[in-house]
Amino acid sequence: MALEMGGIFSWMENTGLAEAIRGTAYLYPILESVHIIGIALLIGPAAAFDLRLLGLGRRALRVSTAADYLLPLSHLGFMIAAVTGVAMFLPGASLIADRGSAPWKLGLIVLAGLNILIFHLRTYRSVADWDVNRSTPAAARFAAVVSLISWSCVTVAGRLLAYT
Ligand code: HEM
Repeated sequence: MALEMGGIFSWMENTGLAEAIRGTAYLYPILESVHIIGIALLIGPAAAFDLRLLGLGRRALRVSTAADYLLPLSHLGFMIAAVTGVAMFLPGASLIADRGSAPWKLGLIVLAGLNILIFHLRTYRSVADWDVNRSTPAAARFAAVVSLISWSCVTVAGRLLAYT
């Protein structure tokens, strides 16, 4: 299995795209910068929505309005982070995959994704009952805390990826 993954990683390192990223001056730091812009677009609106779930602005702002305006921005941010992240992974795939922080980063992204899935498939279905000027249910507040913690930890694991 480890051998198979090793084969996939060295195949990735030899793709035309990986060679282009390795061989083009300043492309890697540009990808890093766009990755950070993607992260900002992902975490900024997601954190604002999480704070609304925790009660901030509950008299004035409908949860559903916050969701409609903020969550599409977060999805766009995730797409930008994912595309630039994969592009940065390609040229040094074996080396990066071998780092201790790599499974943490991947695992935490999966955890954040599962949290979103459960929130939308279960908790958010009853939003009409707690949309405005009501306490949000404990499950919504729990999802907000998990989201804030997991995205923050993905950021730490991402930064650690360069070192260990
Ligand atoms: C979804 C797929 C993603 C992949 C494949 C990916 C992959 C990568 C790679 C390969 C690096 C460069 C590591 C190095 O310099 O050796 C990196 C950096 C980083 N990633 Fe990601 N990433 C993804 C998503 C995210 C997300 C969602 C976040 C945060 C919420 C994040 C946070 C970071 C941070 C903070 C850095 C360090 C940037 C820097 O210091 O320049 N990544 N990522």
